[in-house]
Amino acid sequence: MQLIYPPPTPPGASSSGYAGSPAPVDVGEPADLGRADLHHPVHRQADLDGDTALARLYAFPQPLDDGVWIRGNMVSSIDGAAQGPDGRSGTLSNPADQRLLGVLRALADVVLVGAGTARAEHYGPVEPHPILTDMRARYGQPPAAPMAVVSRRLELHPSSPLFTHACQMTGAEQRTMVFTVDASPVERRSALAEVADVIIAGDADIDVKAVREHLATRGLRRVLCEGGPQLLAHVVRAGHLDELCFTMTPALTGGYATHILDGEPIIGSDWQLAHIIEDASTLFTRWLARA
Ligand SMILES: NC(=O)c1ccc[n+]([C@@H]2O[C@H](COP(=O)([O-])OP(=O)(O)OC[C@H]3O[C@@H](n4cnc5c(N)ncnc54)[C@H](OP(=O)(O)O)[C@@H]3O)[C@@H](O)[C@H]2O)c1
Repeated sequence: MQLIYPPPTPPGASSSGYAGSPAPVDVGEPADLGRADLHHPVHRQADLDGDTALARLYAFPQPLDDGVWIRGNMVSSIDGAAQGPDGRSGTLSNPADQRLLGVLRALADVVLVGAGTARAEHYGPVEPHPILTDMRARYGQPPAAPMAVVSRRLELHPSSPLFTHACQMTGAEQRTMVFTVDASPVERRSALAEVADVIIAGDADIDVKAVREHLATRGLRRVLCEGGPQLLAHVVRAGHLDELCFTMTPALTGGYATHILDGEPIIGSDWQLAHIIEDASTLFTRWLARA
């Protein structure tokens, strides 16, 4: 992996050689990174071959604004498809994308996902990262982040490992959470409540602010939202997406696939580029919502 933007400072050169770049900062431990620092270039070409360095580069900011930071992570083909030809995003992914996904999951307190994605991608609980569990322990996190699924209809099987293997797999005491709405079917709610924490957060639509507040009360402040396109669009429309990690994989798919946000157009959304990394012709971009 190599950092393409912001440009690294070559040995002996001062940052003034780069017109328009803010002063470089060293890549510190996660706790050293403030929100403003995320806009600064790194001091050196980070060694991104190690997952620990990648985790440092993608550290969540500290302290977190209003206690919770929602980071989205999405992938698309060069022509903007959020699904491969089989209708799943998994086929757009590649080992480099999977590697970053593993690191982003390892940094998160909770993984938030729409029920459509959980069903299409056969979601199970997050598995502990092979080498980043020590980092999690240092930050008081269980070996892997619990899942939180968002659903209106609750067409989710209580016998799915997503629910039945959650505590065992993640080492977290918390069960998988299901955020749903008042209008959801009561009997499905009861069935799921046997195996998951079912939380009503909205009438017909999930209220993202209520979700945020609920997660904060559980101390789950670093949120990784893995989509899909409907849920992510809803989070953006509500003004609650703080950061987007967007991967472009080297494929053209054509067809009529959805893109990374679905639904009605969004007006006035404004983002700042934090960095671009390239690996095997896959581009990893990171965007921050302008306050
Ligand atoms: N390219 C990528 O990075 C990426 C990432 C994730 C997924 N995908 C792909 O996207 C496709 C799935 O798309 P999708 O849009 O259906 O996924 P989605 O957003 O994960 O799921 C949609 C479902 O989530 C629930 N939901 C979403 N917004 C809600 C809200 N505001 N209030 C209450 N419930 C809400 C509803 O669940 P119920 O139906 O249960 O009521 C809704 O039908 C799959 O092909 C998947 O592979 C791509």
